[in-house]
Amino acid sequence: MAISASASSALPNPQRLLVTGGAGFIGSALCRYLIEHTPHHVLNVDALTYAANEANLAPIADSERYHFAHVNLCDKAALQQALVAFKPTGILHLAAESHVDRSIDSAEPFIQTNIMGTFNLLEVARHYWEHHWQRSPQFRFLHVSTDEVYGTLGDTGLFTEETPYAPNSPYSASKASSDLLVRAWHHTYGLPVLTTNCSNNYGPYHFPEKLIPLMILNALHGKPLPVYGTGANVRDWLFVEDHARALYTVLQGGRVGETYNIGGNQERTNLQVVHALCAALDKVAPQASGASYSELITFVADRPGHDLRYAIDASKIKRELGWEPSETFDSGLEKTVAWYLANEAWWQPIVAQRYQGQRLGLQPTA
Ligand code: NAD
Ligand code: TYD
Repeated sequence: MAISASASSALPNPQRLLVTGGAGFIGSALCRYLIEHTPHHVLNVDALTYAANEANLAPIADSERYHFAHVNLCDKAALQQALVAFKPTGILHLAAESHVDRSIDSAEPFIQTNIMGTFNLLEVARHYWEHHWQRSPQFRFLHVSTDEVYGTLGDTGLFTEETPYAPNSPYSASKASSDLLVRAWHHTYGLPVLTTNCSNNYGPYHFPEKLIPLMILNALHGKPLPVYGTGANVRDWLFVEDHARALYTVLQGGRVGETYNIGGNQERTNLQVVHALCAALDKVAPQASGASYSELITFVADRPGHDLRYAIDASKIKRELGWEPSETFDSGLEKTVAWYLANEAWWQPIVAQRYQGQRLGLQPTA
């Protein structure tokens, strides 16, 4: 399909959107959102790592507007081929190694994918934009990042778009590096980029290495619920479908070169989260013994370098683009618990073949 970059400011319709990491947790929510709620065409570019799951895309797999390319961001030639063949009008870049604990055990895949992979994608996108778009500002490169690049907060305050970067984990350092590369490709080459930094997501199709799905599955198996340290660390939780909608909102209306923070304004300590999950499960899937799931809570050794608190000031995206979360933590958690109970066929193969909930990220101190 030939793409002519018209002089009008309207984005092409329908658009051809290349999503990296679309087989993962947030990427698949985004692909489902784009196919189910917009007229656009989607190419999902994904290496299918341990975190990917093609079952996440089952609801849209039969759509003629959904396409998949099995490509690793580290394979620049394959990436370029996928881009030139699909001729996207925009790129939404989500592919990453995403788990802090795994980054503590082994940082290398994080450096390769999050930094080198982003570099490859930027270079391929830049050449494509220069040759196929004649550098039109209507092209969009949306880089999806995390609030963890800002480091940790104390008991008060919120991360804004102006908060200085101070990443503390190998994961957040690799994401911060990728954000800076994206920034430089805009300032140096003029690539029309947007960056989003989002707080912790939760919801359906979440790989059970992260706090919320791990706790749900452990509880359903009657296993201990391992809370790191004292459980006083705070995260600001956002339902994944609200994040997907926010990304589309930024892609459509965001000002090129700008950063948008995305958050749910739903701060909870980890202990509050686990208690809320236990209470939800006690209601809908009570244990045969009658005991509350909260009796399974076990305090375990803290994560090395554990950031105390993340919390987002999401007023810019609300003010400029009108985006607000539609779920509260309680409503989103209820939906999430119901989804895991109804979708054992999704998580059973993961538990059987990929990850059994063992502790990650506990490097022995020197
Ligand atoms: P995820 O781990 O669930 O999925 C990552 C996806 O990227 C997988 O499908 C995987 O196969 C793919 N991928 C990994 N390496 C690749 C490579 N080299 N080439 C191609 N594909 C590769 O991650 P997620 O939780 O869905 O996060 C998506 C993005 O959102 C990440 O960039 C992450 O940093 C960011 N983010 C996540 C959260 C969160 O709470 N999970 C919050 C804010 C931002
Ligand atoms: P996680 O889901 O790994 O996300 P992130 O580290 O990116 O915030 O962890 C969320 C919080 O939950 C974090 O403070 C670590 C804590 N945590 C536990 O207490 N127990 C667990 O088993 C896991 C996986 C996380």
